[in-house]
Amino acid sequence: MTDFLPDIPVLSSGEPDTTAGVRFHVETYGCQMNVYDSQAIAGFLLDRGYRRVGDPDVADVILLNTCSVRDHAEQKVLSRIGEIRRVRDVRGLPQPVIGVCGCMAERMGEDLTRGPRGVDLVVGVDRYRDLPDLLAALVDGSETPVSRTATGHRDDSRLVAPPELYPVNNSHLVTIHTGCDYKCTYCIVPATRGPQREKDPELIAREIEHIVRIGGREVTLLGQNVTAYRWGDLDFAGLLASIHGIDGLERIRFLTGHPCDMHPHLMDGIGRLDKVCPWLHLPIQSGSDRVLKRMKRHYTRRQYLDLVAYARRVIPEVTFSSDFIVGFPGETEADFNATVEVVEAVQFDQIFTFKYSERPGVPAAKLADDVPAAVKKQRLAAIMAAQEKIWKRIADGCVGQRWRAVVEKPARRPQGSWMLRTGNNRKVIAASPGLAVGDVATVEITGHQYTTFFGSVAE
Ligand code: 5AD
Ligand code: SF4
Repeated sequence: MTDFLPDIPVLSSGEPDTTAGVRFHVETYGCQMNVYDSQAIAGFLLDRGYRRVGDPDVADVILLNTCSVRDHAEQKVLSRIGEIRRVRDVRGLPQPVIGVCGCMAERMGEDLTRGPRGVDLVVGVDRYRDLPDLLAALVDGSETPVSRTATGHRDDSRLVAPPELYPVNNSHLVTIHTGCDYKCTYCIVPATRGPQREKDPELIAREIEHIVRIGGREVTLLGQNVTAYRWGDLDFAGLLASIHGIDGLERIRFLTGHPCDMHPHLMDGIGRLDKVCPWLHLPIQSGSDRVLKRMKRHYTRRQYLDLVAYARRVIPEVTFSSDFIVGFPGETEADFNATVEVVEAVQFDQIFTFKYSERPGVPAAKLADDVPAAVKKQRLAAIMAAQEKIWKRIADGCVGQRWRAVVEKPARRPQGSWMLRTGNNRKVIAASPGLAVGDVATVEITGHQYTTFFGSVAE
């Protein structure tokens, strides 16, 4: 581990005067880690005089920050590249320059620069600091960049994204580490994001203090496996406790946890620290021990259910959400039924469900992808239907309750109403002319539609 501690790039007077600068546009695909990284990319480019634009049609450079977790995510980006190239061909111009960042850049590297969908620049997840230079050489055309492909993992890559670039409404994202040391057999992430590398707790604290200084009140700590955070003797429970001490910070959320690292003392801490929101996103992936073993998840269904029960004892008002993969190689009807049983047993607030997608080079790619597409589709529909039924019962039971919630943003409908979020991550739409973003209100629940509740402001 290096001592690398980059300064927080503060854009003190808003975006610098860069009217003569090259205009860039960043499009983000995939997870919250990419949202944070796009923020960092924009920070690096703005610092060097590039100008950010929201409209890709007027951009000189379009950067696609990509995801490789499923084939579908990659196909979306490939067709977007095709679309941009078509516009460029019609205009007969070399611009916009197209760059691919993120997991696809890391996975496919130079291949992305070849063929009819070839792009101009490929920059992997640990190379964003080099982006302004690589781009400069490309856009002015005066020099040939050393390489149009910059990928590969670096130990010193810890990004700090300037929070000024995003509107202060609710949660500011703070990446606390990158990469993943687990080797779940279906997952491409350890290959694309590399081994787990922690951000220094000092740097995390400075970043959060800065967010508070510019008006932020809430952070979401991000990582592939935040619960596995470790810096010397400091584990994730210790990190939460130290962040809890930051004056002016009111709420702390985190994403994503691994059931294996959800130790009792961590759950005790979450329950005890009142700034830490009682919401656990804990992917289980499958409810069948046989499948969990083949996925190398290192826990059993019983252990997962036990930790849910423990969390419910020690974390007041805790809610759960989870990820599920259906149609993993060899998944039988009995395995799938075991998964639906877990959905019924836990009573999640929300589940994210995916059809297994074989990723090149991952350990599970050696297994036959033998669950037919139609069966995957049918299992996906079945698990979603099961959750919908369960959720309706849970949500019906919430009507009449009073919840404390923070005003996050104006709701799209009905006009004049606000979207609020509770500590345990429930969304409530409520009309109240007296409210403003960041206010804390008590709402009485009057109804719901899917995962959104409706309420009226009680105080
Ligand atoms: N196929 C389908 N879903 C996957 N995920 C990760 N890899 C795959 C894959 N190969 C899902 C997991 C993970 C979420 C982010 O994406 O459920 O938790
Ligand atoms: Fe992928 Fe497993 Fe790491 Fe999550 S814990 S990123 S699913 S390898």
